[in-house]
Amino acid sequence: MIETKKEKQAKRVYLETYGCQMNEYDSELVKSILANSDYEITTREEDADVILLNTCAIRENAHDKIYARLGDLKHLKNSGNRVVIGLLGCMAQNLRGNLERSDSVVDIYAGPDSYKRLPAMIDSVRQTGRKGFDFNLSEFEDYSDVYPKRVPGVNAWIAVMRGCDNFCTFCVVPYTRGRERSRSLQSVVSEAKRLVSEGFKQVTLLGQNVNSYRSHHDDFADLMAAVASVDGLKRVRFTSPHPKDFPEKLLKVMAEHAKICNHVHLPLQAGSDRVLEMMARTYTKKSFLALVDKIRDMVPGVTLTTDVIVGFPTETDAEFEETVEVMEKVQFDSAFTFKYSERQNTIAYRKFPDDVTEAQKTERIVRLVDLQKKHSLHRNYEQIGKTVKVLIENHSKRNVAEWMGRTDGNRIVVLKDDKGGHVEGSMVDVTIRDATPHTLFGELHDACCSLHPQPERQIAV
Ligand code: 5AD
Ligand code: SF4
Repeated sequence: MIETKKEKQAKRVYLETYGCQMNEYDSELVKSILANSDYEITTREEDADVILLNTCAIRENAHDKIYARLGDLKHLKNSGNRVVIGLLGCMAQNLRGNLERSDSVVDIYAGPDSYKRLPAMIDSVRQTGRKGFDFNLSEFEDYSDVYPKRVPGVNAWIAVMRGCDNFCTFCVVPYTRGRERSRSLQSVVSEAKRLVSEGFKQVTLLGQNVNSYRSHHDDFADLMAAVASVDGLKRVRFTSPHPKDFPEKLLKVMAEHAKICNHVHLPLQAGSDRVLEMMARTYTKKSFLALVDKIRDMVPGVTLTTDVIVGFPTETDAEFEETVEVMEKVQFDSAFTFKYSERQNTIAYRKFPDDVTEAQKTERIVRLVDLQKKHSLHRNYEQIGKTVKVLIENHSKRNVAEWMGRTDGNRIVVLKDDKGGHVEGSMVDVTIRDATPHTLFGELHDACCSLHPQPERQIAV
Protein backbone atom coordinates (compact mmCIF):
# COMPACT_ATOMS: atom_id res chain seq x y z
CA MET A 1 0.00 0.00 0.00
CA ILE A 2 2.45 2.70 -1.20
CA GLU A 3 1.23 6.28 -0.67
CA THR A 4 0.26 8.34 -3.68
CA LYS A 5 1.01 12.09 -3.74
CA LYS A 6 -2.63 12.88 -2.96
CA GLU A 7 -2.65 10.54 0.03
CA LYS A 8 0.45 12.24 1.44
CA GLN A 9 -1.54 15.43 1.87
CA ALA A 10 -4.71 13.83 3.14
CA LYS A 11 -4.37 12.74 6.75
CA ARG A 12 -7.82 13.03 8.22
CA VAL A 13 -8.61 10.95 11.29
CA TYR A 14 -12.03 9.86 12.47
CA LEU A 15 -12.11 8.55 16.04
CA GLU A 16 -14.88 6.59 17.76
CA THR A 17 -14.92 6.02 21.50
CA TYR A 18 -16.43 3.08 23.39
CA GLY A 19 -16.45 2.39 27.14
CA CYS A 20 -15.89 4.58 30.16
CA GLN A 21 -15.06 8.24 30.79
CA MET A 22 -11.38 7.32 30.97
CA ASN A 23 -11.65 6.24 27.35
CA GLU A 24 -13.38 9.54 26.50
CA TYR A 25 -10.44 11.31 28.08
CA ASP A 26 -7.92 9.08 26.30
CA SER A 27 -9.58 9.89 22.98
CA GLU A 28 -9.02 13.57 23.75
CA LEU A 29 -5.34 12.76 24.36
CA VAL A 30 -5.15 10.85 21.06
CA LYS A 31 -6.74 13.77 19.18
CA SER A 32 -4.23 16.14 20.70
CA ILE A 33 -1.25 13.88 19.87
CA LEU A 34 -2.42 13.48 16.26
CA ALA A 35 -3.33 17.15 15.79
CA ASN A 36 0.20 18.05 16.90
CA SER A 37 1.56 15.71 14.23
CA ASP A 38 -0.27 17.35 11.35
CA TYR A 39 -3.27 15.08 11.36
CA GLU A 40 -6.65 16.68 10.96
CA ILE A 41 -9.48 15.39 13.17
CA THR A 42 -12.73 14.95 11.26
CA THR A 43 -16.22 14.23 12.54
CA ARG A 44 -17.22 12.84 9.13
CA GLU A 45 -16.37 9.18 8.75
CA GLU A 46 -16.73 9.38 4.97
CA ASP A 47 -13.89 11.94 4.79
CA ALA A 48 -11.48 9.86 6.84
CA ASP A 49 -8.12 8.51 5.73
CA VAL A 50 -7.71 6.86 9.11
CA ILE A 51 -10.48 5.38 11.29
CA LEU A 52 -9.60 4.69 14.91
CA LEU A 53 -11.78 2.79 17.40
CA ASN A 54 -10.93 3.39 21.05
CA THR A 55 -12.25 0.19 22.59
CA CYS A 56 -13.43 -1.29 25.88
CA ALA A 57 -12.98 -4.80 27.27
CA ILE A 58 -14.93 -4.71 30.52
CA ARG A 59 -17.64 -7.20 29.48
CA GLU A 60 -18.09 -9.52 26.52
CA ASN A 61 -20.79 -7.29 25.00
CA ALA A 62 -18.17 -4.49 24.71
CA HIS A 63 -16.12 -6.84 22.52
CA ASP A 64 -19.19 -7.91 20.53
CA LYS A 65 -19.91 -4.29 19.60
CA ILE A 66 -16.40 -3.86 18.21
CA TYR A 67 -16.49 -7.11 16.24
CA ALA A 68 -19.75 -5.92 14.65
CA ARG A 69 -18.15 -2.58 13.82
CA LEU A 70 -15.08 -4.27 12.32
CA GLY A 71 -17.50 -6.26 10.15
CA ASP A 72 -18.86 -2.96 8.70
CA LEU A 73 -15.34 -1.69 8.16
CA LYS A 74 -14.38 -4.86 6.31
CA HIS A 75 -17.10 -4.07 3.75
CA LEU A 76 -15.66 -0.57 3.42
CA LYS A 77 -12.17 -1.92 2.75
CA ASN A 78 -13.43 -4.63 0.41
CA SER A 79 -15.14 -1.92 -1.61
CA GLY A 80 -11.69 -0.56 -2.46
CA ASN A 81 -11.40 2.16 0.19
CA ARG A 82 -7.76 2.44 1.32
CA VAL A 83 -8.59 3.81 4.73
CA VAL A 84 -6.20 2.82 7.55
CA ILE A 85 -7.99 1.19 10.50
CA GLY A 86 -6.65 1.30 14.03
CA LEU A 87 -7.84 -0.45 17.18
CA LEU A 88 -6.90 1.37 20.36
CA GLY A 89 -7.46 0.90 24.06
CA CYS A 90 -8.51 -1.90 26.36
CA MET A 91 -9.83 -4.48 23.88
CA ALA A 92 -6.78 -4.09 21.65
CA GLN A 93 -4.55 -4.55 24.69
CA ASN A 94 -6.58 -7.43 26.08
CA LEU A 95 -6.70 -9.56 22.96
CA ARG A 96 -3.16 -8.78 21.77
CA GLY A 97 -1.99 -11.88 19.81
CA ASN A 98 -5.53 -13.08 19.04
CA LEU A 99 -6.22 -9.96 17.03
CA GLU A 100 -3.06 -9.79 14.98
CA ARG A 101 -4.35 -12.13 12.29
CA SER A 102 -3.05 -11.40 8.81
CA ASP A 103 -6.59 -11.39 7.34
CA SER A 104 -7.87 -8.92 9.94
CA VAL A 105 -9.22 -5.64 8.68
CA VAL A 106 -7.20 -3.82 11.35
CA ASP A 107 -3.88 -2.19 10.36
CA ILE A 108 -2.80 -0.81 13.73
CA TYR A 109 -3.18 -2.01 17.32
CA ALA A 110 -2.25 0.27 20.19
CA GLY A 111 -2.81 -0.25 23.93
CA PRO A 112 -3.59 2.59 26.36
CA ASP A 113 0.06 3.44 27.02
CA SER A 114 1.10 3.57 23.36
CA TYR A 115 -0.70 6.65 22.09
CA LYS A 116 2.40 8.82 21.68
CA ARG A 117 3.65 6.34 19.08
CA LEU A 118 0.45 6.49 17.02
CA PRO A 119 1.57 9.14 14.48
CA ALA A 120 4.66 7.09 13.62
CA MET A 121 2.62 3.89 13.43
CA ILE A 122 0.05 5.46 11.09
CA ASP A 123 2.77 6.98 8.90
CA SER A 124 4.52 3.63 8.69
CA VAL A 125 1.37 1.77 7.63
CA ARG A 126 0.61 4.41 5.02
CA GLN A 127 4.13 4.19 3.63
CA THR A 128 4.82 0.47 3.78
CA GLY A 129 1.38 -1.15 4.04
CA ARG A 130 2.69 -3.31 6.87
CA LYS A 131 0.55 -3.71 9.99
CA GLY A 132 1.81 -2.16 13.23
CA PHE A 133 1.22 -2.87 16.88
CA ASP A 134 2.35 -1.64 20.27
CA PHE A 135 1.15 -3.27 23.47
CA ASN A 136 3.80 -2.03 25.87
CA LEU A 137 2.33 -1.11 29.23
CA SER A 138 4.35 1.46 31.14
CA GLU A 139 4.78 2.04 34.85
CA PHE A 140 5.37 5.73 34.19
CA GLU A 141 3.33 6.98 31.24
CA ASP A 142 0.78 9.44 32.65
CA TYR A 143 0.42 11.75 29.61
CA SER A 144 0.77 14.79 31.87
CA ASP A 145 2.78 16.43 29.06
CA VAL A 146 -0.16 16.16 26.65
CA TYR A 147 -2.98 18.69 26.86
CA PRO A 148 -6.18 16.95 25.66
CA LYS A 149 -8.06 18.32 22.67
CA ARG A 150 -11.53 18.83 24.15
CA VAL A 151 -14.85 19.91 22.70
CA PRO A 152 -15.78 23.17 24.48
CA GLY A 153 -18.43 22.59 27.12
CA VAL A 154 -19.28 22.78 30.80
CA ASN A 155 -17.48 19.71 32.16
CA ALA A 156 -13.91 18.62 31.47
CA TRP A 157 -12.41 15.27 32.45
CA ILE A 158 -8.93 15.13 33.97
CA ALA A 159 -7.29 11.74 34.47
CA VAL A 160 -5.31 12.10 37.67
CA MET A 161 -4.13 8.52 37.83
CA ARG A 162 -4.02 5.58 35.45
CA GLY A 163 -4.02 1.81 35.83
CA CYS A 164 -5.09 -0.29 38.77
CA ASP A 165 -3.30 -2.42 41.36
CA ASN A 166 -6.40 -3.88 43.03
CA PHE A 167 -6.85 -7.03 40.98
CA CYS A 168 -10.51 -7.55 41.80
CA THR A 169 -10.83 -11.09 40.49
CA PHE A 170 -13.54 -10.29 37.90
CA CYS A 171 -11.81 -7.28 36.41
CA VAL A 172 -9.74 -6.98 33.27
CA VAL A 173 -8.49 -3.43 33.91
CA PRO A 174 -5.17 -4.28 35.60
CA TYR A 175 -4.31 -6.33 32.48
CA THR A 176 -5.44 -3.73 29.95
CA ARG A 177 -4.24 -0.58 31.69
CA GLY A 178 -1.32 -1.82 33.76
CA ARG A 179 0.07 -0.61 37.06
CA GLU A 180 -1.31 2.28 39.06
CA ARG A 181 0.48 5.62 38.61
CA SER A 182 -0.52 9.17 39.58
CA ARG A 183 0.18 12.56 38.06
CA SER A 184 1.68 15.28 40.20
CA LEU A 185 -0.76 17.52 42.09
CA GLN A 186 0.75 20.55 40.39
CA SER A 187 0.14 19.23 36.88
CA VAL A 188 -3.52 18.53 37.70
CA VAL A 189 -4.03 21.97 39.27
CA SER A 190 -2.37 23.69 36.28
CA GLU A 191 -4.68 21.80 33.93
CA ALA A 192 -7.73 22.84 35.99
CA LYS A 193 -6.63 26.51 35.84
CA ARG A 194 -6.18 26.35 32.09
CA LEU A 195 -9.63 24.77 31.74
CA VAL A 196 -11.21 27.64 33.67
CA SER A 197 -9.51 30.14 31.38
CA GLU A 198 -11.05 28.26 28.44
CA GLY A 199 -14.57 28.57 29.90
CA PHE A 200 -15.08 25.17 31.55
CA LYS A 201 -17.10 25.34 34.79
CA GLN A 202 -16.64 21.87 36.20
CA VAL A 203 -13.87 19.31 36.28
CA THR A 204 -14.28 15.61 36.99
CA LEU A 205 -11.17 13.91 38.30
CA LEU A 206 -10.84 10.45 36.81
CA GLY A 207 -9.06 7.27 37.71
CA GLN A 208 -9.83 3.54 37.67
CA ASN A 209 -9.31 3.77 41.38
CA VAL A 210 -9.29 7.49 41.79
CA ASN A 211 -9.10 7.72 45.58
CA SER A 212 -5.91 5.62 45.61
CA TYR A 213 -4.23 8.71 44.10
CA ARG A 214 -0.80 9.28 45.63
CA SER A 215 1.94 11.58 44.41
CA HIS A 216 4.91 12.20 46.73
CA HIS A 217 3.26 13.38 49.97
CA ASP A 218 -0.06 14.25 48.38
CA ASP A 219 -3.04 11.95 48.72
CA PHE A 220 -6.46 12.18 47.08
CA ALA A 221 -7.87 14.47 49.78
CA ASP A 222 -4.97 16.92 49.21
CA LEU A 223 -5.59 16.81 45.49
CA MET A 224 -9.33 17.46 45.84
CA ALA A 225 -8.71 20.37 48.20
CA ALA A 226 -6.16 21.89 45.81
CA VAL A 227 -8.44 21.57 42.76
CA ALA A 228 -11.43 22.94 44.70
CA SER A 229 -9.34 26.02 45.48
CA VAL A 230 -8.93 26.92 41.80
CA ASP A 231 -10.65 30.28 41.22
CA GLY A 232 -13.48 30.34 38.72
CA LEU A 233 -14.28 26.66 38.93
CA LYS A 234 -17.88 26.04 39.99
CA ARG A 235 -17.86 22.31 40.66
CA VAL A 236 -15.45 19.43 41.19
CA ARG A 237 -16.46 15.79 40.83
CA PHE A 238 -14.56 12.51 40.93
CA THR A 239 -15.05 8.95 39.72
CA SER A 240 -14.61 6.04 40.36
CA PRO A 241 -13.49 5.45 43.91
CA HIS A 242 -13.01 2.15 45.74
CA PRO A 243 -14.69 1.75 49.15
CA LYS A 244 -11.32 0.76 50.66
CA ASP A 245 -9.90 4.30 50.36
CA PHE A 246 -12.34 6.56 52.20
CA PRO A 247 -10.43 8.00 55.14
CA GLU A 248 -12.08 10.67 57.32
CA LYS A 249 -9.68 13.22 55.85
CA LEU A 250 -11.28 12.82 52.42
CA LEU A 251 -14.84 13.07 53.78
CA LYS A 252 -13.85 16.20 55.72
CA VAL A 253 -12.46 17.80 52.56
CA MET A 254 -15.71 16.95 50.77
CA ALA A 255 -17.76 18.48 53.56
CA GLU A 256 -15.60 21.62 53.83
CA HIS A 257 -15.39 22.59 50.16
CA ALA A 258 -18.71 23.75 48.74
CA LYS A 259 -17.39 23.24 45.21
CA ILE A 260 -16.81 19.51 45.75
CA CYS A 261 -20.07 17.88 44.75
CA ASN A 262 -22.00 15.83 47.27
CA HIS A 263 -22.00 12.68 45.23
CA VAL A 264 -20.13 9.46 45.88
CA HIS A 265 -20.17 6.55 43.47
CA LEU A 266 -19.55 3.62 45.80
CA PRO A 267 -19.33 0.30 43.93
CA LEU A 268 -20.87 -2.44 46.07
CA GLN A 269 -20.44 -5.32 43.55
CA ALA A 270 -22.04 -7.90 45.90
CA GLY A 271 -23.70 -8.18 49.32
CA SER A 272 -22.40 -11.56 50.50
CA ASP A 273 -19.13 -11.69 52.43
CA ARG A 274 -18.14 -14.96 50.78
CA VAL A 275 -18.65 -13.53 47.29
CA LEU A 276 -16.92 -10.27 48.22
CA GLU A 277 -13.94 -12.28 49.39
CA MET A 278 -13.86 -14.29 46.17
CA MET A 279 -13.96 -10.97 44.32
CA ALA A 280 -11.03 -9.72 46.48
CA ARG A 281 -12.94 -6.55 47.33
CA THR A 282 -11.35 -6.26 50.81
CA TYR A 283 -14.56 -5.15 52.60
CA THR A 284 -17.53 -6.96 54.11
CA LYS A 285 -21.25 -6.24 54.02
CA LYS A 286 -20.98 -4.82 57.53
CA SER A 287 -18.02 -2.54 56.82
CA PHE A 288 -19.63 -1.34 53.57
CA LEU A 289 -22.83 -0.41 55.44
CA ALA A 290 -20.77 1.30 58.15
CA LEU A 291 -18.98 3.33 55.46
CA VAL A 292 -22.33 4.38 53.96
CA ASP A 293 -23.45 5.62 57.40
CA LYS A 294 -20.21 7.50 57.89
CA ILE A 295 -20.39 9.16 54.47
CA ARG A 296 -24.02 10.17 55.06
CA ASP A 297 -23.13 11.47 58.48
CA MET A 298 -20.14 13.56 57.39
CA VAL A 299 -21.50 14.71 54.00
CA PRO A 300 -25.17 15.50 54.67
CA GLY A 301 -27.49 15.16 51.69
CA VAL A 302 -24.92 13.16 49.73
CA THR A 303 -26.12 11.23 46.69
CA LEU A 304 -24.92 7.62 46.64
CA THR A 305 -24.72 5.55 43.48
CA THR A 306 -23.26 2.10 42.91
CA ASP A 307 -22.25 -0.78 40.60
CA VAL A 308 -23.47 -4.32 41.24
CA ILE A 309 -22.57 -7.60 39.55
CA VAL A 310 -25.02 -10.54 39.62
CA GLY A 311 -24.11 -14.16 39.00
CA PHE A 312 -20.46 -14.10 40.04
CA PRO A 313 -19.19 -17.75 40.00
CA THR A 314 -20.84 -19.90 42.70
CA GLU A 315 -23.16 -17.09 43.89
CA THR A 316 -26.21 -18.83 45.39
CA ASP A 317 -29.78 -17.54 45.55
CA ALA A 318 -29.32 -16.87 49.27
CA GLU A 319 -26.13 -14.87 48.61
CA PHE A 320 -27.88 -12.87 45.91
CA GLU A 321 -30.58 -12.06 48.51
CA GLU A 322 -27.82 -10.44 50.58
CA THR A 323 -27.11 -8.06 47.67
CA VAL A 324 -30.83 -7.25 47.64
CA GLU A 325 -30.71 -6.70 51.40
CA VAL A 326 -27.82 -4.20 51.15
CA MET A 327 -29.58 -2.35 48.34
CA GLU A 328 -32.77 -2.21 50.41
CA LYS A 329 -30.83 -0.87 53.39
CA VAL A 330 -28.84 1.77 51.51
CA GLN A 331 -31.51 2.77 48.96
CA PHE A 332 -28.96 4.09 46.46
CA ASP A 333 -29.96 7.04 44.29
CA SER A 334 -29.05 5.02 41.23
CA ALA A 335 -27.20 1.82 40.36
CA PHE A 336 -25.53 0.24 37.36
CA THR A 337 -26.25 -3.49 37.39
CA PHE A 338 -24.29 -6.06 35.38
CA LYS A 339 -24.38 -9.78 34.70
CA TYR A 340 -21.02 -11.34 35.47
CA SER A 341 -19.06 -11.69 32.26
CA GLU A 342 -15.99 -13.90 32.30
CA ARG A 343 -12.88 -12.04 31.10
CA GLN A 344 -9.80 -13.73 29.72
CA ASN A 345 -6.69 -13.42 31.92
CA THR A 346 -8.52 -12.41 35.10
CA ILE A 347 -8.10 -14.33 38.35
CA ALA A 348 -11.76 -15.41 38.28
CA TYR A 349 -11.27 -16.75 34.73
CA ARG A 350 -8.34 -18.85 35.89
CA LYS A 351 -9.82 -20.04 39.20
CA PHE A 352 -13.63 -20.05 39.16
CA PRO A 353 -15.84 -21.61 36.47
CA ASP A 354 -18.62 -19.30 35.23
CA ASP A 355 -21.29 -21.61 36.67
CA VAL A 356 -24.31 -19.38 37.30
CA THR A 357 -26.66 -19.97 34.36
CA GLU A 358 -27.67 -17.20 31.99
CA ALA A 359 -31.30 -17.68 33.11
CA GLN A 360 -30.33 -17.18 36.78
CA LYS A 361 -28.30 -14.10 35.91
CA THR A 362 -31.26 -12.70 33.98
CA GLU A 363 -33.67 -13.40 36.83
CA ARG A 364 -31.36 -11.70 39.33
CA ILE A 365 -30.63 -8.64 37.23
CA VAL A 366 -34.33 -8.11 36.49
CA ARG A 367 -34.99 -8.15 40.27
CA LEU A 368 -32.27 -5.56 40.88
CA VAL A 369 -33.32 -3.30 38.03
CA ASP A 370 -36.92 -3.26 39.33
CA LEU A 371 -35.78 -2.67 42.89
CA GLN A 372 -33.45 0.15 41.89
CA LYS A 373 -36.14 1.82 39.81
CA LYS A 374 -38.30 1.94 42.94
CA HIS A 375 -35.47 3.39 45.02
CA SER A 376 -34.47 5.94 42.38
CA LEU A 377 -38.07 7.12 42.07
CA HIS A 378 -38.39 7.35 45.84
CA ARG A 379 -35.15 9.35 46.10
CA ASN A 380 -36.19 11.66 43.27
CA TYR A 381 -39.67 12.19 44.76
CA GLU A 382 -37.93 13.40 47.93
CA GLN A 383 -36.64 16.31 45.85
CA ILE A 384 -40.10 17.57 44.81
CA GLY A 385 -40.82 21.00 46.28
CA LYS A 386 -37.12 21.67 47.03
CA THR A 387 -35.18 24.48 45.40
CA VAL A 388 -31.79 23.26 44.24
CA LYS A 389 -28.76 24.69 42.43
CA VAL A 390 -28.50 23.42 38.87
CA LEU A 391 -25.49 23.84 36.58
CA ILE A 392 -26.92 24.10 33.07
CA GLU A 393 -25.11 21.82 30.61
CA ASN A 394 -27.08 21.81 27.41
CA HIS A 395 -30.43 22.06 25.68
CA SER A 396 -32.65 19.13 26.60
CA LYS A 397 -32.43 16.32 24.02
CA ARG A 398 -36.20 16.13 23.60
CA ASN A 399 -37.04 19.82 23.44
CA VAL A 400 -34.73 22.70 22.55
CA ALA A 401 -36.98 25.08 24.49
CA GLU A 402 -35.84 23.28 27.65
CA TRP A 403 -32.48 23.08 29.37
CA MET A 404 -30.77 20.09 30.89
CA GLY A 405 -28.49 20.43 33.88
CA ARG A 406 -27.38 18.63 37.03
CA THR A 407 -27.73 19.14 40.73
CA ASP A 408 -24.73 19.05 43.02
CA GLY A 409 -25.66 15.41 43.70
CA ASN A 410 -25.51 14.65 39.95
CA ARG A 411 -29.27 14.28 39.45
CA ILE A 412 -30.40 15.24 35.96
CA VAL A 413 -32.82 18.17 35.85
CA VAL A 414 -34.88 19.33 32.89
CA LEU A 415 -36.21 22.89 33.13
CA LYS A 416 -38.07 25.43 31.09
CA ASP A 417 -36.61 28.89 30.72
CA ASP A 418 -39.55 31.01 29.61
CA LYS A 419 -37.72 34.26 30.27
CA GLY A 420 -34.65 33.24 28.27
CA GLY A 421 -31.24 34.66 28.91
CA HIS A 422 -29.54 31.57 30.30
CA VAL A 423 -26.65 29.79 28.71
CA GLU A 424 -24.66 26.63 29.20
CA GLY A 425 -22.52 26.99 32.30
CA SER A 426 -25.03 29.13 34.26
CA MET A 427 -25.75 28.10 37.81
CA VAL A 428 -29.46 28.62 38.50
CA ASP A 429 -31.91 27.95 41.33
CA VAL A 430 -34.58 25.51 40.29
CA THR A 431 -37.70 24.40 42.15
CA ILE A 432 -38.40 20.73 41.51
CA ARG A 433 -42.00 20.01 40.50
CA ASP A 434 -41.98 16.43 39.21
CA ALA A 435 -39.77 13.36 38.93
CA THR A 436 -39.21 10.05 37.16
CA PRO A 437 -36.59 7.51 38.28
CA HIS A 438 -33.93 9.14 36.08
CA THR A 439 -34.97 12.79 35.77
CA LEU A 440 -36.21 15.72 37.83
CA PHE A 441 -38.40 18.38 36.22
CA GLY A 442 -38.31 21.91 37.54
CA GLU A 443 -38.85 25.57 36.97
CA LEU A 444 -36.61 28.53 37.61
CA HIS A 445 -37.02 29.80 41.13
CA ASP A 446 -38.28 33.36 40.80
CA ALA A 447 -37.04 36.46 42.56
CA CYS A 448 -33.61 35.06 43.11
CA CYS A 449 -30.43 36.93 42.26
CA SER A 450 -28.82 33.82 40.77
CA LEU A 451 -31.50 34.04 38.11
CA HIS A 452 -29.36 36.70 36.53
CA PRO A 453 -25.84 35.38 36.66
CA GLN A 454 -22.88 37.28 35.36
CA PRO A 455 -22.81 37.18 31.56
CA GLU A 456 -20.93 34.08 30.59
CA ARG A 457 -19.30 32.93 27.41
CA GLN A 458 -21.80 31.28 25.09
CA ILE A 459 -20.49 27.82 24.41
CA ALA A 460 -20.67 26.51 20.89
CA VAL A 461 -22.31 23.11 20.87
N1 5AD B 1 -18.45 -8.72 34.56
C1 5AD B 1 -19.49 -7.90 34.86
N2 5AD B 1 -19.32 -6.66 35.32
C2 5AD B 1 -18.07 -6.21 35.48
N3 5AD B 1 -17.59 -5.02 35.92
C3 5AD B 1 -16.25 -5.07 35.88
N4 5AD B 1 -15.83 -6.27 35.42
C4 5AD B 1 -16.95 -7.00 35.17
C5 5AD B 1 -17.17 -8.30 34.71
N5 5AD B 1 -16.17 -9.12 34.41
C6 5AD B 1 -18.44 -3.95 36.40
C7 5AD B 1 -18.14 -3.61 37.85
C8 5AD B 1 -17.42 -2.30 37.73
C9 5AD B 1 -18.05 -1.70 36.53
C10 5AD B 1 -17.29 -0.60 35.89
O1 5AD B 1 -18.18 -2.78 35.64
O2 5AD B 1 -19.37 -3.45 38.52
O3 5AD B 1 -17.56 -1.49 38.89
FE1 SF4 C 1 -13.68 -0.47 29.53
FE2 SF4 C 1 -12.43 -0.61 31.89
FE3 SF4 C 1 -11.03 -0.04 29.74
FE4 SF4 C 1 -12.76 1.76 30.69
S1 SF4 C 1 -10.90 0.99 31.71
S2 SF4 C 1 -12.51 1.19 28.59
S3 SF4 C 1 -14.41 0.39 31.43
S4 SF4 C 1 -12.10 -1.96 30.21
